[in-house]
Amino acid sequence: MASHTHQHHHNHQSHTHQNKEFFNNEAAAYDAKHEKTLGHIVDEIRTRLDFIGLDWVDDDDDSGDSENKKSPAKAVRLLDYACGTGVVSRALAPSTTQCVGIDLSENMVAAYNARAENQGLTKEEMYAYQGNLCVSDDPNPPAFSSPDFFNFDIAAVGLGFHHFDDPELAAKRLVERLGPGGVLVILDFLPHEKMETGHAASHTVTHHGFSREHIQKIFTDAGAGKDFALDELSRDVMFNRGMENGQPEMRRRIFIARGTKA
Ligand SMILES: C[S@@+](CC[C@H](N)C(=O)[O-])C[C@H]1O[C@@H](n2cnc3c(N)ncnc32)[C@H](O)[C@@H]1O
Repeated sequence: MASHTHQHHHNHQSHTHQNKEFFNNEAAAYDAKHEKTLGHIVDEIRTRLDFIGLDWVDDDDDSGDSENKKSPAKAVRLLDYACGTGVVSRALAPSTTQCVGIDLSENMVAAYNARAENQGLTKEEMYAYQGNLCVSDDPNPPAFSSPDFFNFDIAAVGLGFHHFDDPELAAKRLVERLGPGGVLVILDFLPHEKMETGHAASHTVTHHGFSREHIQKIFTDAGAGKDFALDELSRDVMFNRGMENGQPEMRRRIFIARGTKA
């Protein structure tokens, strides 16, 4: 197995290294292992386009009928942070013009890009990059300093926040990437019992879910507290159903929260 891990930030970003290693190993099996949950999340995001509240593009308008073509073409750009294999991008691709993924794990990024390519999408339409925007002493990493990585209409994180050392910093860094009136979206777990330390993923988890109050404070402090709203998904999801590898089944309640950059 390839391991190109550099550990510059190892000491003060204590969970970063563990997340990178864990998700590099998970990447190839991730979509198959979580197929039902991910399908559910895609559906739940798509039913909440009005809740997220952007001026989306309508997939049906994009019929190639040049007589009806609106000009200038509207752009709706998504930053899918901690993108993994691209669940949030897939949910929102029909309503956006560009999906840009960033993830700590190069194997997750490779899975994201392989899937996008298989769908016939161009690099301009859907593409992910390896990186970390949440390193405290590296506020503007050179790899992400070009205009291509700013002025997004929406920045979203699906099931990533509970893995971050510093969710408050992550939210701030993402809001910096939004254009005026841009929307921050976080999808994650509501508070839950602590994971057993023997669980393979337990060392990658920094937060055992988030309360509404905690998430609202994160949005507000990051500068995206305008029109804050939080909604709970219509049903819980189960991980390790059937006691996979002898590991306990975990029930999780999921929220989706949105706020506008003030
Ligand atoms: C549970 S997966 C979620 C992936 C995807 N968003 C989804 O909803 O299926 C968590 C992802 O967060 C990534 N991750 C963890 N810490 C990160 C960080 N500091 N910066 C960027 N990505 C990170 C991991 O590599 C992993 O792909």
